[in-house]
Amino acid sequence: MEKWCLTGGKWVAFGEIVGGKSYIPMSDTSPPTSEDHGPYSRGDGPVPIIRLNDDELKPGMQLEEDIYNRNKVLLLARGAVLNEDTIRIIKRLGYTNVSVQKPPDGPDYWGRIDEQKLTEFKKNYDQSSEEVVELVRGIGEGRQVSMDQAFQVTGSIMQEVSSPYNLFPYLSQVEQLNVHTHGHSINVSLVCRAICHWLGLGDEVSREVVVAGLLHDIGKNRVRPDVLYKTQLTPKEQEEFERHPSLGQRLLEEAGAPEAVRLAALLHHEREDGSGYPRGLDGRQIPLVAKIVAVADVYDTINFDQSRRSKVCPFFVFDRLQQNYLGVLDTGILLTFLARTAESYVGEIVHLSDGRTGQIVVINRASPSRPMVRTKEGIIDLSVRPEISIEAVLPVGPKN
Ligand SMILES: [Fe+2]
Repeated sequence: MEKWCLTGGKWVAFGEIVGGKSYIPMSDTSPPTSEDHGPYSRGDGPVPIIRLNDDELKPGMQLEEDIYNRNKVLLLARGAVLNEDTIRIIKRLGYTNVSVQKPPDGPDYWGRIDEQKLTEFKKNYDQSSEEVVELVRGIGEGRQVSMDQAFQVTGSIMQEVSSPYNLFPYLSQVEQLNVHTHGHSINVSLVCRAICHWLGLGDEVSREVVVAGLLHDIGKNRVRPDVLYKTQLTPKEQEEFERHPSLGQRLLEEAGAPEAVRLAALLHHEREDGSGYPRGLDGRQIPLVAKIVAVADVYDTINFDQSRRSKVCPFFVFDRLQQNYLGVLDTGILLTFLARTAESYVGEIVHLSDGRTGQIVVINRASPSRPMVRTKEGIIDLSVRPEISIEAVLPVGPKN
């Protein structure tokens, strides 16, 4: 049976020689039977096994080995579905890597993907990437920004998905190298389009917000690449990185961008509770455009961080936003965004972290990331069951 491990961000088969090293499994495991298939099963053959570092483990993954405590007492048996608590236990026990079933490639976690539409979506996305590179280069060289041109960059992508509700599954399928390139700018601009639509903003304001999303990080072009791409920054490097909003603001001023676009570049890292930068403003002092861009920016960053490790379930991202950013990002915008994106999943079939499968029936307005799910045993209100989470949205075909 094929076995895999993750090295240098790439899946390799055990035994395959990569960079002079041969990846050998630490212990042999027999191929799982069809009954063994956990939440990641697609019912199309044996599930590949992988070994992950403890910080790569995610709720919903299914163990492929027994976990013992220091007294050799069995704590978790092979086949157990991991949750936040069991992952914490595994880390505390000092397991540096653990065998789990390999999450599948493909759109399972986000559901509703039409392959033909996806091809078209990716084509438009690539086209937009080229346009944004050109636009940003022009501004860097002192060219004036054309609002019409900047607005159109993500226009064709949005047209393809026909409704903001359909955007997110497709967006999840686009590979992004990091959060500092044009991919992030395009994603933020697209999410801004969806939020403007849901907030019912007028055309003129929406246009500025969409362009602001596209150009919000343009100041990063003036930050040294070794600072930009480093994961652990020294205090001095952090200071340098945090200059990108002011640098962007200046660039956009020289390019003749409207005030809203300049303000979004300057203030998209400000936070409602005053914890942001560069000015430490509080919610009353942050303009709407910067608040919307901030929600889109944080959403895409969480999504990217997670997708680097494995496939991401949309409800994981929603949950992360709800748990960590209420009161930090604008509450009204954040809850509208979460409720609308979550609502688009009503009726979808999902896998729960306790191994059950169910259907999303109602979104809780006050807790959109934790809806009510109908299972064989009855309806579970996830807003009062924090120990259970949605681990995957199953593909049931496109809605539109
Ligand atoms: Fe930024």
